[in-house]
Amino acid sequence: MLMNATRSKVERGRGVIEHYREYLPVCESTPIVSLGEGDTPFIYSSRLSKRIGRGCDVFVKNEGANPTCSFKDRGMTLAVSKAMERGASALICASTGNTSASAAAYAARAGISCVVVLPAGKIASGKLLQAFAYGAKIVAIHGNFDDALRIVCELGERGDFIVVNSINPDRIAGQKTAAFEIVDALGDAPDFHLLPLGNAGNITAYWTGYREYQSRQRTCPERQSNGSTKLPAMIGFQAAGAAPIFHDRIIEKPETIASAIRIGNPASWKQARVAIAESAGAVDIVSDEEIVAAQIWLARHEGILVEPASAAAIAGFFKCCDSKEAAYSFKEIPEGSRIVCTVTGHGLKDPDVIMQRMGKVGPVAARVNDVRRAIGL
Ligand code: F0G
Repeated sequence: MLMNATRSKVERGRGVIEHYREYLPVCESTPIVSLGEGDTPFIYSSRLSKRIGRGCDVFVKNEGANPTCSFKDRGMTLAVSKAMERGASALICASTGNTSASAAAYAARAGISCVVVLPAGKIASGKLLQAFAYGAKIVAIHGNFDDALRIVCELGERGDFIVVNSINPDRIAGQKTAAFEIVDALGDAPDFHLLPLGNAGNITAYWTGYREYQSRQRTCPERQSNGSTKLPAMIGFQAAGAAPIFHDRIIEKPETIASAIRIGNPASWKQARVAIAESAGAVDIVSDEEIVAAQIWLARHEGILVEPASAAAIAGFFKCCDSKEAAYSFKEIPEGSRIVCTVTGHGLKDPDVIMQRMGKVGPVAARVNDVRRAIGL
């Protein structure tokens, strides 16, 4: 009994590579660089479920609960482990913030150096702080994420660095474990999966994960209790001012308050299109106002604080429920459907957006009566 309890404690937080080893390109000699990523909260939301009605169940997959507070850690553990296997001594990435925070942390864990190339003035303060604290070399450029990625790819080709953006297939392979966790939690795949779209690596990873888990389970007896009988429709949301996939054209000057998805030319554009087409899903846009409203709604109604890019999935959910213009309407959705919304990053990474709304909290005298008055009693 004691042994079991001890073992389960050790196994919690062992990381996605140990958990899903048979689905990942690792072998006995791969040095595993992990911070205990994955196994993130999968939260049933009665309020979002009620919003659709029709006996539907809505779940929020909270990826902000990863070690560096975003979904990037799932891919980074594998990308950095494989880089170490290949004898790398330095990593490099372009980023809107979260990839750089994650790369910097895993590089520190591995004992190698990390360079992050970022669009100057466009990185949320919490993410920049993370990259600095983990010891990365930070280079800010006069340009956007798309420019940064172009430069990083060129530097990667010269062989000095391993690029750990999602163009690195190990990143996608690690990130697909989020789909595995969802199928394991539900006992099947959901009917719909909603998520924000930026560089389009995550939608590519989820779709790979859902497809692979379904086909492998059929041939893998020990996993059959969790067999997925279906695949979800993948529905991705871009910010209205940074929506190249929705408009089907490169956006030269993407703009949105959701700085993590301020991207005009996504690297995995083609793969995202395939995921949406094969899954009979959709791509849609949400405005900055809708994003901020959804962020506040989720914090105040479910106690889940996410960054603006993540709130795009929730804003998108509301659009599917309420708007006639939605690319995918939930009005006639089959009864009892199961919907998963992935929220990708923690709200504390980007405090500025919320601080602006907060105003000043002026102090009152340290007396019960003054505090009562301040409360409004
Ligand atoms: N949500 C957050 C919080 C992100 O940081 C990102 C991407 C996305 C959603 C979009 O995911 O790119 O896989 O479609 N952030 C990258 C970065 C670009 O550099 O941190 P995607």
